[in-house]
Amino acid sequence: MLKRKDLLGLKDVTREEIEEILALAAQMRKVLDQSAKKTTDLQGKSVITLFYENSTRTRTSFETAAKIMSASTTSISVATSSVSKGETLIDTGKNLDAICADAIIIRHSMSGAPHLLAKNVRASVINAGDGLNEHPTQALLDMYTMKEHFGSFEGLKVVIAGDIKHSRVARSNIWGLNKMGASVTVCAPKTLLPAEIDKMNVTVSSNLDECIKGANVVMGLRMQLERQQAGLFPSVAEYHAFYGIDAKRLRNADGDAIVMHPGPVNRGVEMSSEVIDGDQSVILPQVTNGVAVRMAILKLLLAEKRG
Ligand code: NCD
Repeated sequence: MLKRKDLLGLKDVTREEIEEILALAAQMRKVLDQSAKKTTDLQGKSVITLFYENSTRTRTSFETAAKIMSASTTSISVATSSVSKGETLIDTGKNLDAICADAIIIRHSMSGAPHLLAKNVRASVINAGDGLNEHPTQALLDMYTMKEHFGSFEGLKVVIAGDIKHSRVARSNIWGLNKMGASVTVCAPKTLLPAEIDKMNVTVSSNLDECIKGANVVMGLRMQLERQQAGLFPSVAEYHAFYGIDAKRLRNADGDAIVMHPGPVNRGVEMSSEVIDGDQSVILPQVTNGVAVRMAILKLLLAEKRG
C-alpha cells in the first residue's frame, strides 16, 4: 500500500513503491484482457481530470482506468471552466474538494503546479504532466512495458533520443530507471539537452549512431515545437537526417531491442514510419499498459488507503 496521498513525480518515489505499482499493474493488465472489463475497486470514489494542456492518450487513459474500476469520472475542460474567469488553481482545487473529489488528475504547463495543488487540497493529486518537470505515470507505463519484455531492469541499456530539454517524460524515466538499475543514455543535439543533464546520472551523447549500438530499448521523443523558441535546430529534415530513428540505425541496436514512444508521434521527424509500425515497435502496447498502470496507481492511492 502506498503511504503517500499524491503521486507527483518519480524523483521522490522509492524503488519499493515503483515495484509495488508495477506488480499491481500486472494484475490490472489481466482485467483488460477479459471480455467484461470491470472491477468494483473504486466504487463510490470520484475522480476528476483537470487538464490545462492538450491531451489524447493520458486523459482518456486515466478516465478509462477509473471507469473500469467503477469510479465516477468528471472531466473539466479548462477552456469552458471558471479558470478562464480568473480563478486561481488553489481556489479551483478547494472547490473540487468541496464537490467531494477523491482524486484530482492534473496536467499543467507550469512545473510545480501539481505540487501546489496537492498542498492545498484533501483529494489525492496525480501529476499527468507539469511543464518540463515530470510525467510519472507515463514513465511508469514505459517501465512496465520494459519489464514485460525483459523481466528486469538490471543491466538494461535504455537510449532516450529526441527533444530531451522539453521532455517531462525523459525526466521521469531517468529518475525511475536509475532507481531500478537500468543504464540510461540520452541522445540529442546540444541545443536540445537541458542544462542540468550532467547531474542526472545518465550517459550523454549527441551521436545517435554511436549510442544506439547494443541498446535494448530505443525510446524516441517528440520535437516539442510548441515549447521551443526558434533556432534550436536548423530544419526538421536535417534533424531527421541526423537524429531520426530509422530502420538502418535500428539495426545497430541489440537484436531483441524494442522501440518506444510516449506519443504523439511526428512521423518522419523523430522516427520513420517503418520503425513506428515495425515488428520491434511497442508503441501501442505502451498505450494499453498505460491503462493498467493508472488503474494500479488509482487503486493504491484511493481504494486501499481510505476504503
Ligand atoms: C507527452 C507529454 O504530454 O508530456 N505525451 C504523453 O503524455 N503521452 C509527450 C509529448 O507531448 O510529446
